[in-house]
Amino acid sequence: MKNVFHKEPLARAIEAVVAAGGSEPREARLVAENLVTANLLGHDSHGIGMIPRYVDALLEGGLSVNQHPKVKLDGGALLALDGCQGYGQVIGHEATAMALERARVHGLCIMALGRSHHLGRIGHWGEQAAAHGLISISFVNVISRAIVAPYAGADARFGTNPVCIAIPLPGEPPFLLDMATSAVAQGKLRVAHNKGEKVPLGWVIDDRGNPTDDPRWAVLQPFGAMQTFGVHKGYGLAVACELLGGALTGGGVTDYDNKTRRRVLNGMLSILIDPARLGTQELFGKDTKSFLAWLRASRPAPGFDRVRIAGEPERETRARREREGVPVDAETWNEIRAAAAKLKLQPDRIDALARG
Ligand SMILES: NC(=O)c1ccc[n+]([C@@H]2O[C@H](COP(=O)([O-])OP(=O)(O)OC[C@H]3O[C@@H](n4cnc5c(N)ncnc54)[C@H](O)[C@@H]3O)[C@@H](O)[C@H]2O)c1
Repeated sequence: MKNVFHKEPLARAIEAVVAAGGSEPREARLVAENLVTANLLGHDSHGIGMIPRYVDALLEGGLSVNQHPKVKLDGGALLALDGCQGYGQVIGHEATAMALERARVHGLCIMALGRSHHLGRIGHWGEQAAAHGLISISFVNVISRAIVAPYAGADARFGTNPVCIAIPLPGEPPFLLDMATSAVAQGKLRVAHNKGEKVPLGWVIDDRGNPTDDPRWAVLQPFGAMQTFGVHKGYGLAVACELLGGALTGGGVTDYDNKTRRRVLNGMLSILIDPARLGTQELFGKDTKSFLAWLRASRPAPGFDRVRIAGEPERETRARREREGVPVDAETWNEIRAAAAKLKLQPDRIDALARG
């Protein structure tokens, strides 16, 4: 059975759970709005379903409430920040705002953020930069149990290390390429496993490193591993995320000994560029428009309705879910109610808030 909630009451319910964990009202609101936005955009794996994990992380001491980025270096266009294991929804927002200010002054900013708790959809930070007319390029590592295998390796060595490129466009919403470097999100494998479905080869290997179409190897012990997208190419990008987002930011590389901890830390190296400062604005606008028109004029291939650019599918889902509500499966909703109970909040109260 699916529950369907409208975005505002759903956000109020999630806000109540976060506040019950000790967060100040602004933090509770930022976390709730960020997660509900991920659901609205269709990325349920990075939406309110993260709450049970956040609550566990909080209770085990791996996530700290009411933190703000601590400046380690503020050197012109270079900014280095410690995320203090705070909620990524606050740390990411404030770190990006600080980087935006410096990019405005210097034309660009290289922001190294280490030790933030889960930053959620990395596209959220790309959208924040694009809303101010800035380009952003981010490389992110994930410090948690390793779940993705290196190309030619037979076991997991790193996380789903995402990359995001956001480019503001003239006369339309930004190009927003926001993707994990794994072939598919882990959540999709769990769903396929629960439904008893097979998955395409190239997504998962078994515990001996053999390709398999059985998603169980990404879900149950003994674990196999997920694979990177684009064979050795996605693998290369995943390693770049670990080196730039993890080692270079000072946030650390994947935690290879972690088998049980619930906290998820992210390191993020972001490059923000003010395109107006390059002096190419007029040409950029003209060329972008003509290239996108040329791209979109491509004849749809069999089985497709039209060519889209990155960011468009999410905006279409958002328009639909704003209208029709956000579907939340019964298992996810029960887990959220159980998480609320761990914080001494009545699950019935959460139901009532979410239903408005
Ligand atoms: N914080 C973390 O630790 C972490 C880790 C991994 C992933 N993530 C997040 O998970 C989310 C999902 O990642 P994903 O790789 O599953 O995303 P995805 O595969 O759904 O989409 C990847 C990109 O492809 C684009 N796209 C999709 N369909 C398209 C089409 N038909 N035409 C043109 N472009 C299209 C999307 O707009 C998006 O930019 C992202 O927001 C990512 O930042 C976060």
